Amino acid sequence: MTALLGICGSIRKASLNRALLAAIGETLPAGSTLTIWDSLDLPIFNSDLAEPARVTELKAAMNSADGVVFAVPEYNYSIPGGLKNALDWLSSPPRMSPLRGKPVALAGAATGISGTIRAQVHMRQMLVFSDTPVLNQPEVLIPRAQDRFDAEGRLHDESTRALLARFGEAFVAFVALHRR
Ligand code: FNR
Repeated sequence: MTALLGICGSIRKASLNRALLAAIGETLPAGSTLTIWDSLDLPIFNSDLAEPARVTELKAAMNSADGVVFAVPEYNYSIPGGLKNALDWLSSPPRMSPLRGKPVALAGAATGISGTIRAQVHMRQMLVFSDTPVLNQPEVLIPRAQDRFDAEGRLHDESTRALLARFGEAFVAFVALHRR
């Protein structure tokens, strides 16, 4: 049994990246589950503040997951501010970060042609700080995502579904390799 946590970097209701996470959940190998964390709508990180309850809950969910899948939208050639803000909360204090040693996989959907490649490269670089092992292949970079999901967020593109199935299989194996 592999229990994965899915975190969407977009907080908007009709997010293509949330739809992508849902499709990843549907294509996982038998015996694996993906629970989607519903919102990264958090106050701006400030170490003068007490940790918000939502951050404490997110840290606990991450600690109890075997692995974490981040759906990474691309805004202005990088990751959305809300996702960076969540990483800042999760890395404080750095030695206690639930990302430390936690197997992570990245996936992303964009309406343009680059499929979030620049955002995912930035995200990988950020995860070096928390010493987080990140799955390399297969990459899930979904361009023109609005053509692959219907208005309800259901995936109708079979080549994307096949890629997601390979991704899920590779990530579950990666998680087993890093099991502590
Ligand atoms: C975008 N989008 C975008 N796409 C891309 O491929 N590279 C980029 O740099 C940007 N930048 C960008 C900035 C801002 C402010 C917005 C609102 C959008 C388009 C983006 O891929 C698209 O809006 C996705 O649908 C966002 O992901 P969600 O919210 O659907 O998950």
